[in-house]
Amino acid sequence: MPAVASPELFDKIVNLTKRRGFVYPSAEIYGGFRSTYDYGPLGVLLLRNVKDAWWRSMVQLRSDVVGLDASILSPPAVWEASGHLANFTDPLVDCTSCNSRLREDKLADPDVCPVCGAEGSFTEARHFNLMFKTQAGPVEEEGAVAYLRPETAQGMFINFKNVIDTTRVRPPFGIAQIGKSFRNEITPGQFVFRTREFEQMELEYFVHPDEAQDSYEYWCNERYQWYLDHGIPADELRLRAHDSDELSHYSSATSDVEYLFPWGWDELEGVANRGDYDLTQHAEASGEKLEWFDQAENVRWRPYVIEPAAGATRTAMAFLMAAYHEEEVRGETRVVLRFHHRIAPYKVAVLPLSKKPELAGPASELAADLRGSFMCDYDATQSIGRRYRRQDELGTPYCVTYDFDSLEDHAVTIRDRDSMEQERIDISQVRAYLTERFT
Ligand code: GAP
Repeated sequence: MPAVASPELFDKIVNLTKRRGFVYPSAEIYGGFRSTYDYGPLGVLLLRNVKDAWWRSMVQLRSDVVGLDASILSPPAVWEASGHLANFTDPLVDCTSCNSRLREDKLADPDVCPVCGAEGSFTEARHFNLMFKTQAGPVEEEGAVAYLRPETAQGMFINFKNVIDTTRVRPPFGIAQIGKSFRNEITPGQFVFRTREFEQMELEYFVHPDEAQDSYEYWCNERYQWYLDHGIPADELRLRAHDSDELSHYSSATSDVEYLFPWGWDELEGVANRGDYDLTQHAEASGEKLEWFDQAENVRWRPYVIEPAAGATRTAMAFLMAAYHEEEVRGETRVVLRFHHRIAPYKVAVLPLSKKPELAGPASELAADLRGSFMCDYDATQSIGRRYRRQDELGTPYCVTYDFDSLEDHAVTIRDRDSMEQERIDISQVRAYLTERFT
């Protein structure tokens, strides 16, 4: 497999995601709806595993991070204070020749329309705010305006006081959140890479200002390592520090974890040093003291924030692309998704050699038993070879085959997805065999 997935390979992967039930175009029976997607039976498991793996690393395994689930609808005051109403904009130009609407900052040549080739045809840039505006309640009036959050981060800042008042956290500590965010992107595209509705996984880590730089470096390394640990090869991943002209309005330093997508290096996650920008803005706008009171020293100080901000949907896409492999097996092409075990949608599939009740009965019982511990598929259709290929395309790490000998020897064959090696083990050992490999 080349280090850079080619455009043809990209098309094959997108095709597989539809064919195997990972991702469907949204509202497809009505012709689809503008770069929105639905996650099918396999996709929902993949996405859930991405989020669970992130939550496990960022919350469960740490004593210094707590979780939050804030609301998506929020009043203008939040976005006024955060700077999003003024700054969360893209510069937009129209081509007067073909009427295309484009992002000025993404044009390869600022004078030439990439759609129709016209020169000097662009209007003056207008600033287009990316937030979705709606209204809360039945009356359209000024006080009813609400926004769908464009990032989960602000939920953590506006709950900073609630969290320090109601839990035993003390800096350095973090608040983590996973959830949907919405941006009226001018140029969504590249499959689920950039969509208007997507999921984020964000941590706001509150530290003493003197520790901010060390903490920023720590989180850059942690987050880079997380992708390696979950199956992205080192030659398809890099950490890139932003130049000063790329920094967001709140950030004094940012590094992106980037994946080598078919179109080149692009962002999976940003790690930013947000300083005390957010707490200061919300303290001034709300009148609340958003500070830490150090009782031992009798001093108050405002923490700096280090923010690793990742996209769940984008990460799922990168894991899919990194997992995709084609290889020749006995003169045929085998397509296999070599997902990391934690990320694989199904962990195991139980396959009775025949649909006959004497095999299907005990095989279903085994599947029912394994379901208590693992996401387990059951498939009794087609030849065993085709069923193995299907599970390979779903990325299932182990297939358990129940055959006629199983009736006599109470053993099953376990096939490893990656090596395709098979071993015979006692049925009573299957759960322990899988548990050992998944922990
Ligand atoms: N709180 C900071 C923040 O939201 P961001 O870089 O704008 O930073 C963080 O977003 C991550 O969210 C990105 O690295 C990306 O993975 C994901 N993301 C942002 N916009 C997205 C979109 N339109 N579609 C899919 N994922 C998106």
